[in-house]
Amino acid sequence: ATFAQDVVAIQELKRSRRAVVLAHNYQTPEIFHGVADVVGDSLLLAQRAQDVDADVILLAGVPFMAETAKLLNPAKTVLVPDITAGCSLADGITAEDVLALRAEHPGVPVVTYVNSSAAVKAVSDICCTSGNVERVVRHLGVDRVILIPDEYLARNVARATGVEVITHPTRCEVHERFDVAQVEQLRAETPGLTVLAHPECSPEVVAVADVAGSTAQMIDYVTTHRPPHVALITECSMADNIRAADPGLHYVQPCNICPHMRRSTLSTIRIALETGGPEIVLDPTTAAAARRAVERMLELS
Ligand code: 13P
Ligand code: SF4
Repeated sequence: ATFAQDVVAIQELKRSRRAVVLAHNYQTPEIFHGVADVVGDSLLLAQRAQDVDADVILLAGVPFMAETAKLLNPAKTVLVPDITAGCSLADGITAEDVLALRAEHPGVPVVTYVNSSAAVKAVSDICCTSGNVERVVRHLGVDRVILIPDEYLARNVARATGVEVITHPTRCEVHERFDVAQVEQLRAETPGLTVLAHPECSPEVVAVADVAGSTAQMIDYVTTHRPPHVALITECSMADNIRAADPGLHYVQPCNICPHMRRSTLSTIRIALETGGPEIVLDPTTAAAARRAVERMLELS
């Protein structure tokens, strides 16, 4: 099918199935601009999953995002374009790992990044996203937290808040590849460059950026301040999506592609809506425990 045929078919399927498409900011422009009803960072997608008026939620993104939508909406059908898509963070830690950290550090609260499975969320005290992690950690009012699974996010938060952070050696395979030399080279090549980095980048890279924030915070910054030259130290679709909406700004590379996010395509979205699968199914006990950790986060956001 052509691009246009897929878009028309998806729009029709959304009407006939009473479905909404929630798309992460890392989805490609034909999804982000062509078929999504809601676009956003992990935090906004979790918030909007709670209040959409639809029978079916199709989460264009990776399975942990669809699991979060499902555990907040147990009565709705939640579809994901490719249920076998991974995420190096969500795949890097198990519930057993979390229980071992708890046993090693009794009484220390466990803050779990939403880039994790429902089973890992279920043994956590509270969740966080890159957009609210500092607020969540400060709110706990303690001097030590366990913050998992992203080692870099944890170290970035420790530096920003002064709270001691115990973490786990897991990283985002997309963001760990950026290094300080790349950023310095970009600045040398483009005077007046504004560098925005995602907090899944190393603390060294975040330290040489002008701004660090979630994908939505980066988009807000660029669209509000309109810096003439921008480097988005994150997934490649971010610049593609903002550029498509606002061609006035100049973006410099590098960026890295997330192979897991790219498993969502117009074709896999169309098939999911046509066939009603793959569907997210969660064990009810795990889902209820995970929901408590996500809801505690949403109450603070
Ligand atoms: P946010 O959109 O919450 O910043 O997350 C980035 C990410 O890597 C999601 O997989
Ligand atoms: Fe996971 Fe990183 Fe891909 Fe986000 S960008 S889905 S954190 S591997």
